[in-house]
Amino acid sequence: MEKYDFNDRFILNLDTPEALRTHDLHVWYGNNEAIKGVDLQFEKNKITSLIGASGSGKSTYLRSLNRMNDGISGTKVTGEIIYKEVDINAPAVDVYEMRKHIGMVFQRPNPFSKSIYENITFALKRHGIKDKKLLAEIVETTLKQAALWDQVKDNLHQSALALSGGQQQRLCIARAIAMKPDILLLDEPASALDPISTSKVEETLVQLKEDYTVIIVTHNMQQAARISDYTAFFYSGQVIEYDLTANIFTQPQKKATNDYVSGHFG
Ligand SMILES: Nc1ncnc2c1ncn2[C@@H]1O[C@H](COP(=O)(O)OP(=O)(O)O)[C@@H](O)[C@H]1O
Ligand SMILES: [Mg+2]
Repeated sequence: MEKYDFNDRFILNLDTPEALRTHDLHVWYGNNEAIKGVDLQFEKNKITSLIGASGSGKSTYLRSLNRMNDGISGTKVTGEIIYKEVDINAPAVDVYEMRKHIGMVFQRPNPFSKSIYENITFALKRHGIKDKKLLAEIVETTLKQAALWDQVKDNLHQSALALSGGQQQRLCIARAIAMKPDILLLDEPASALDPISTSKVEETLVQLKEDYTVIIVTHNMQQAARISDYTAFFYSGQVIEYDLTANIFTQPQKKATNDYVSGHFG
């Protein structure tokens, strides 16, 4: 398959500075080259969706962006991931520090078996924030940003595990943004949720882009169409097409993209 080049329409549509960029990113699991040289740039304060069939490499690519593939034995990641002009894929980068800037929310809600309050303050305390008033402020702000505050403000010291799946996922979003990352990575964050919880999470993400750059993997094309500004179509470890979401869904330039978005495969 041809190597992907940024298409002219996308370049013309760049209206905000980039938050993150990959250059010639490859990921191998042993001999299986799951990502085959991906160049993408992500715009600040936008939502970008990564779509494509199961096994096309969406999760592998997303996880590489904050080096979640590090330490999986047999895995090799080459190429550059440029954040604030630094290649964060370089061995010398402190991955723990980097993840304060680039946070991740997983497919299944995974709150700690602690109170709602402690779920949000846990990492902050580990980073030395002890001031109770400040912690309480951050809890309130992040729960509001995650559209969960009104439902939990009277039960902050109850177990997070007592929340519904959708509430747990919004708590995980609140926990991720408590560290004030610039970029939030989400891997199918609504796939385990019912439709009402899904739409709450979607509303949350749309609100969050005022403050964050959001990159989301989704196999739900309606979801990508509803919430994202840009969409990248993955096929067999490559990006086939990357454009404004409206263009991807209404006038894709590549046949494979058209086949996928019109439901002919995947
Ligand atoms: N931890 C892993 N170990 C080995 N192979 C993996 C692992 N995760 C994913 N793969 C392989 O990498 C390819 C891409 O998978 P993945 O990134 O999960 O795709 P997607 O998220 O688009 O469904 C697939 O061939 C998959 O089998
Ligand atoms: Mg996946």
